[in-house]
Amino acid sequence: MPTVLSGVQPSGRLHLGNYFGALAQHVALQHEPGEHFYFIADYHALTTSQGAAELRERVHDVALSYLALGLDPAKAMLFRQSDVPEVTELTWLLACVTGMGLLERAHSYKDKLAHGIKPSVGLFTYPVLMAADILAYDSDQVPVGKDQVQHVEMAQDMAGYFNGQYGPVFKRPEARIPSAASLAKVPGLDGEKMSKSYGNTIWIFESGKELKKRIGAIVTDSRPPEEPKDPDALVPMQLLALFLPPEELAQWQERIRAGGAGAPGYGHMKQRLHEAIETRFAPARAERDKLVQHPDHVERVLQGGAAVARARARATRDRALAACGLR
Ligand code: TYM
Repeated sequence: MPTVLSGVQPSGRLHLGNYFGALAQHVALQHEPGEHFYFIADYHALTTSQGAAELRERVHDVALSYLALGLDPAKAMLFRQSDVPEVTELTWLLACVTGMGLLERAHSYKDKLAHGIKPSVGLFTYPVLMAADILAYDSDQVPVGKDQVQHVEMAQDMAGYFNGQYGPVFKRPEARIPSAASLAKVPGLDGEKMSKSYGNTIWIFESGKELKKRIGAIVTDSRPPEEPKDPDALVPMQLLALFLPPEELAQWQERIRAGGAGAPGYGHMKQRLHEAIETRFAPARAERDKLVQHPDHVERVLQGGAAVARARARATRDRALAACGLR
């Protein structure tokens, strides 16, 4: 039975990119045979500074969101990364077999530098902590969006370095990305990858006026509706494609390609997107409203998940310590 594991950073409210790239997969996969571990990467969140109260609130918010979207604690372990401190021990062991060059090649690190972020040592070694997360549970599959694939490959490399030096301790994990490219890399309001750090997100549970405002900010141009266009190149259509049933999507695409009097304008596309988001997430929004009233329940779920996860990580940590002569 495979072990499936993934993590989400509590660095802001979860957005449509997180949902289509990762959470939707997580919620669907829990029904497949195997053991399922999903965690809130609060150690990782410290690489971008935030206050203690805000971090606590965001961790709680991610847990609420997972449960509202249908993660079932009877089928999948949901826990806080920092409730399993063994991962930080594994991080050190992996750091000592990993060359600087591997980390210097990390796209997401280079991206952050390019966006003017002043890097800490923690940000630089982020992929080592992530490798420890993955390897601690003997994970077989890691369901993530496309942007995290390189990090999973780095975890494969680090497992290989350690095993090469000390013998077979870590299992080789594989990334699992959504089959449709549109889901694996969801665009943000500006057409770049949707990302908390780019401020171009739509919150999964947004609705009403706020949602209208966010959708209103999606980038368009001044071409009139009658002008024929490539629908795949339009950001409102790229987002709409995540929601519409195939037949309806094909109709929209056809009308946009043809142009002329009956062709929909950007306003129409945005209006349809608004409806689609409201409808898709209505049940989860209602569930979230209920769960907000029960913070103790959410905390109990996290504690229960952590107990199982920690036992697993301890065993791996002990194996790794013994292999390298620390026990
Ligand atoms: P994070 O918090 O940035 O994102 C969580 C998940 O959402 C996916 N995602 C996207 N997918 C498609 N389109 C987008 N625009 C988009 N934006 C985000 C990400 O690919 C990810 O699957 N380093 C990880 C957290 C982590 C982790 C781990 C993941 C820590 N340890 C171990 C897996 C295994 C991160 O920052 O994800």
